[in-house]
Amino acid sequence: MTTILAIAGSARAKSLNQMLLRAAAEAAPAGTTVEHASIKDIPLYDGDSEAASGVPAVVEALKDRIAKADGVLLVTPEYNNSIPGTFKNAIDWTTRPPADIARVYGGKPIGVIGATPGPAGTGLAQVAWLPILRTLGTLPFFGARLMVSNAGKVFDEHGALTDVAVRAQVEKYMAAFARFVTRLAP
Ligand code: FNR
Repeated sequence: MTTILAIAGSARAKSLNQMLLRAAAEAAPAGTTVEHASIKDIPLYDGDSEAASGVPAVVEALKDRIAKADGVLLVTPEYNNSIPGTFKNAIDWTTRPPADIARVYGGKPIGVIGATPGPAGTGLAQVAWLPILRTLGTLPFFGARLMVSNAGKVFDEHGALTDVAVRAQVEKYMAAFARFVTRLAP
């Protein structure tokens, strides 16, 4: 069984990216399990608090989940044509202390997808993740792209993905990403 840890970069209750995460999990092919992770309880990074108290338990737990997963899927909103600070803050915490980066991220297959009510599909936020993925020594997935535009219209009031064309895109992306992760799994 291949395990993918999907992290949604928005904590709000009606987050379109959390809806996309759930749709991606449902679309995963047989033999692949998608687990959900949230950034909701991650505090703001503060070097003084790290020096005094170390890495918070909630961050250590997320680090362990990333390290254990065969692959990671970042489901990113786009803020001001880039990564939301809240999401980057959460990932920044998981890179502390730097001596743990290789254990947590080294050689890790990582995909990036996203949803926006706007027309541009989070393309710029997805690209903004690339230097970070490179810095952390991950293996970014470039075999497919998934950029969900006009996302306010593709989910129903319960958060289910109802747009047939977008569903097909999600299924295609997840099939290709799961293949990539499975091929690289230890
Ligand atoms: C946005 N939004 C946005 N959308 C986009 O496509 N490109 C952008 O540059 C921005 N910029 C931006 C800045 C800030 C500060 C906010 C709060 C929002 C809109 C954004 O895509 C929308 O709020 C999404 O619904 C956020 O994702 P979740 O919370 O629905 O997952």
